[in-house]
Amino acid sequence: MTSADASPQPLSLRADAPLSGVVTVPGDKSISHRSLMLGALAVGETRVEGLLEGEDVLATAAALRACGAGIARDADGVWTIHGVGVGGLLQPQTALDMGNSGTSTRLLMGLMASHPLTATFTGDASLSKRPMGRVIDPLSQMGAQFAATPGGRLPLTMTGVCPALPIRYVLPVASAQVKSAVLLAGLNTPGLTTVVERTPTRDHSERMLAGFGAELTAEDTPEGRVITIRGEAELRPQAIVVPGDPSSAAFPVAAALVVPGSRVTVRNVGVNPTRDGLFRVLTAMGAQITRANLRLVGGEPVCDLEVTHGPLTGIDVPPEIAPSMIDEYPILFVIAAFAEGRTVMRGLDELRVKESDRIAVMAAGLAACGVSIEELPDGLIVHGRGGEPAPGGATVASHLDHRIAMSFAVLGLNAAKPVTVDDARPIATSFPGFLPMMRGLGAA
Ligand code: S3P
Repeated sequence: MTSADASPQPLSLRADAPLSGVVTVPGDKSISHRSLMLGALAVGETRVEGLLEGEDVLATAAALRACGAGIARDADGVWTIHGVGVGGLLQPQTALDMGNSGTSTRLLMGLMASHPLTATFTGDASLSKRPMGRVIDPLSQMGAQFAATPGGRLPLTMTGVCPALPIRYVLPVASAQVKSAVLLAGLNTPGLTTVVERTPTRDHSERMLAGFGAELTAEDTPEGRVITIRGEAELRPQAIVVPGDPSSAAFPVAAALVVPGSRVTVRNVGVNPTRDGLFRVLTAMGAQITRANLRLVGGEPVCDLEVTHGPLTGIDVPPEIAPSMIDEYPILFVIAAFAEGRTVMRGLDELRVKESDRIAVMAAGLAACGVSIEELPDGLIVHGRGGEPAPGGATVASHLDHRIAMSFAVLGLNAAKPVTVDDARPIATSFPGFLPMMRGLGAA
């Protein structure tokens, strides 16, 4: 299943019996992108185990190769990177195709902005609708120049600058991608580059930059979290073990909570506190989720999640938790459909500029499947059915959005009539192996 296949691939899952089993999920997407990027700027050989081999990460690998890094796949999930050193990225000879991946685009723009090169970024129909102004603004302040499609969209051409100007940038949106773009640009910028985030977002860039030997400080102040990197650092190559992606683990966890009688364990899941919001919210809704074998892997907290089906109760999800589960709202909307009472989810403006408008697309699909919802400008209210099956009986559009496709596939596991996803190909961007995993748990 890859999106390079020519025709749409409809998908419909059902469960005729409780789901059970022990599964693993692919490596964390955010950490995989960053492993390749920092490895490409280190001097020497970085080795990565557990790299996510999804289309988004492969787009990052291809772009870095086009800029001179040596990147090779040695075995399943095992990759080696021969870096060119900070400041050593070369002029790519062709446009860089970012596919569906916002993370590749925004982080690579940052990485390249402080190099003397010109790069053109292109993407698919979904990515070409997404706002790039949020990275163009700070990178322009650092001296990079941009020719973008109106509205600050792809395709765009960026001309980097060397030496770039160090800046102090207060993030106008809670976005780890924007934060990371500025910090990565700061790597090859003389002096100190600072980002201030009022709401904490995923901190993989900070952890990994420090792990690769960059001089980075992070301090909590009344203004927010102040993160400073000293540029022109030399990065040391690393051996990285990528934990399982909590955003992918969300789907087997949800499947177990949706299908009565299920018991599922997901091994080796990253539970960095800037990423584990969904599991905290589900626990507050009454879900039985145990974190077993909690341990540290490569500086990231990792555990096995043991999930047992049981009744759930709708809650008001605090908006402050959104950044730590921003990619998990589509599947939370689905889980909420099986809770008793209403679940209110707000503060989610950012969901409207993901791979799709995830509020509108989920609202339309849930309504088509007979789930009672209220769409809000910044969120969704789901009126739960207290564990009763969803009516189903609809074909929903995934809009080139992997998480929409997987969310509706899970809804179909407990629906009176089938739920069909119009096209499952986008799932390959983040979760190759989703279908075999679901079949392994007993889904048909
Ligand atoms: C990501 C950050 C988030 C998230 C995306 C991955 C990252 O995006 O939605 O899937 O790896 O930094 P934003 O920074 O736009 O919130």
